[in-house]
Amino acid sequence: MIFVVDFGSQTSHLIARRIKDLGVLTKIVNPQEAYGKIKEEKPQGIILSGGPASVYEKGTPTVSKDIFNLGIPILGICYGFQLTAKLLGGKVIAGKKEYGPADLRIANSKWPIVSKLPKQFTVWMSHGDEVVSLPKGFEIFASSKTVRFAFVGNEKNKIYGVQFHPEVEHTEFGNQLLKNFIDICDAKMEKKEIDIEKTENEIKEKVGNSYVIGAVSGGVDSTVAAVLAAKTIGRQFIPVYVDNGLMRAKTNVYIKKVFKSLSIKPIIVNVRKEMLKLLKGITDSEQKRKIIGNFYIRIFEKEMRRQIKKGNDVKFLLQGTIYSDVIESGAPRRPDGQKGQGIKHSAKIKSHHNVGGLPRNMKLKLLEPMRSFYKDEVKEIGRKLGLPEEFINKQPFPGPGYAVRIRGEVTKKRLEMEKKADEIVLSELEKAGILQNVFLSFPVLTNAFSTAVKGDGRNFGEVVAIRIVESKDIMTSTWARIPYDLMQKISSRIVNEVEGVSRVVYDITTKPPATMEWE
Ligand code: XMP
Repeated sequence: MIFVVDFGSQTSHLIARRIKDLGVLTKIVNPQEAYGKIKEEKPQGIILSGGPASVYEKGTPTVSKDIFNLGIPILGICYGFQLTAKLLGGKVIAGKKEYGPADLRIANSKWPIVSKLPKQFTVWMSHGDEVVSLPKGFEIFASSKTVRFAFVGNEKNKIYGVQFHPEVEHTEFGNQLLKNFIDICDAKMEKKEIDIEKTENEIKEKVGNSYVIGAVSGGVDSTVAAVLAAKTIGRQFIPVYVDNGLMRAKTNVYIKKVFKSLSIKPIIVNVRKEMLKLLKGITDSEQKRKIIGNFYIRIFEKEMRRQIKKGNDVKFLLQGTIYSDVIESGAPRRPDGQKGQGIKHSAKIKSHHNVGGLPRNMKLKLLEPMRSFYKDEVKEIGRKLGLPEEFINKQPFPGPGYAVRIRGEVTKKRLEMEKKADEIVLSELEKAGILQNVFLSFPVLTNAFSTAVKGDGRNFGEVVAIRIVESKDIMTSTWARIPYDLMQKISSRIVNEVEGVSRVVYDITTKPPATMEWE
């Protein structure tokens, strides 16, 4: 077993996930309890995760220095590395900030931790602090242009540190580095399959004889959660789709189709007009998310009362929340009073409406069977449940829908503009055979305006930004290198066909530092 000590990184669970995928059991522990648990359970290796804090500040999370004297191999990642350096006598300062790709050059490939890594490869950085002096006994294995101590270690004591993130998919050979560490720890076990039966039993146990209302949005996450619930508890499950007008075209047709194969007729509630009324005058993105989230729950509560009147004892609301939603919401105290687990130190990035934006006085309890799974695991569960590839490979779509792709106020007119531009991007990508290869594609109404000359007249229209990204685990992404001719086609069609648009630009920012969505 390998322990991951969680200092609140966005990727602590991803580290655990990678280790698990390499066939080794892992456990995530809090820094406060780490030393005691390590002594008790004697893991074969310890990984100290990244985190948003700075080791030189007061009150930041730390571990007992004694963990370095137990003879257990340790790998510090980002904050975990900086903490290792500080605790063992090195120095950390607020250095040059660096987010996104960096070139790593191996300087010393003598030791097993560097085994099978090429001389030069791309790694993903995300840090503001920097180790400027190493503890005694440490040597440099690799550096980047800006970070001299990018990959270091004390081979004798088997303590290693990396400033970059080997766990994210865009770090090349990240898995090889983690595998090297696992080999050094001498930790091995059989690979385990995802246990659907376990999740089904948890649903059964939690729900008992009561009823569950399923919030379905047509997205993969909520669909897989709903299909799993439907298969597990049958008629005790009631899928509801709130059609608030902020979702992609034909979502309700699509939802009916999914449930038809299970002989379930979803309840579709049309609240398009009310939604726009509630968003009138709202320009702040967090406020939009909260309004949409609150409204969404209110509709469910109304539906619940209707079901109770009919004699169905509805106690739960099913949601397709997955693990990245939970992490990126900074684990706020949940509406049912429970704290997010293991992610106490994460920084809040944005309130994903299905986590942070839920009202505290919600009357339904949450049932979130996908809460501990990553996107690719959810897809695998979907396949195992027999969902067709067409559904599994659908692009994710944010809960607050088009509202977070329209900067500023969401009006009927701007919503129409966004929808039309979205359909153009989707259809052009599909025609070019590229749609299947990208993770997300969408236009953003930027609320910035520029001059255009259309025909003989000048006009001042909105700038539309196109965001097309590639990603597997959502934690990191790169912008898709689509052909110039295709960009031109998309641009021309949007400027010509969507009234009020003056200009189209292409977003070439990686995540990190940018998030995928603009709001
Ligand atoms: P970001 O922008 O955080 O997006 O890099 C990562 C993934 O999450 C989706 N997303 C959301 N999903 N409610 C959701 O249900 C939200 O508020 C929200 N914001 C972002 C985004 O579409 C991408 O798939």
